[in-house]
Amino acid sequence: MSQVIGLFPTPFMRSEKLLGAGLVAALVAEAEAFASRGNHRSAALTHTEPVAPGSGAFAEASALIAPRLVEFGMLLFGESLPWAIKELWLNVLENGGHQAVHNHANSFVSGVVYLSRPHESAHTVFLKGLGGRDFVFGNSNARTTQGPFNADKWITPPAEPGDLVLFPSYLLHEVPVNQGGRRISLAFNAVPQRLDSWGYATSFS
Ligand SMILES: [Fe+2]
Repeated sequence: MSQVIGLFPTPFMRSEKLLGAGLVAALVAEAEAFASRGNHRSAALTHTEPVAPGSGAFAEASALIAPRLVEFGMLLFGESLPWAIKELWLNVLENGGHQAVHNHANSFVSGVVYLSRPHESAHTVFLKGLGGRDFVFGNSNARTTQGPFNADKWITPPAEPGDLVLFPSYLLHEVPVNQGGRRISLAFNAVPQRLDSWGYATSFS
């Protein structure tokens, strides 16, 4: 009998219906009123300015996200740490727009709350990596069976308004061309208050 063990897996958390309909509606209204900052890679994608949780709908959403961050942080760092959301922003992706491949600098955990139901063409896609300056060998063809050890990308399952996803900020991700209606989401970055490696500690704010 053989056994296969997935070494050093990457956590990815989904919390369905974390935000209720009223809060989702308030954030959608905020996005439609203030998402005027154009994305430099896609004309059909706009964002609001990043803000600290502050008050109102952002603060209410942050309070609901906070316990999930502690839970996710436990997986990443093995300790129940205090976490802070540094900034949040809203994204409005119209039909024909896309979000280019990126990750989130100066952050440990990033997340998205879907405020509309993304069209099947525009689920968030996570990528294993784009390669560096080394030659790359691969075996992707019609005979290939995709699995967790050889896939180079992973598509998030269908989402509903109010659903949260959390992922390590270093993970590359993108949203392919949206072939459906307006896609609205809330995104954020979070840091633990302090990391301590046997007395060699560093704090974040
Ligand atoms: Fe992102």
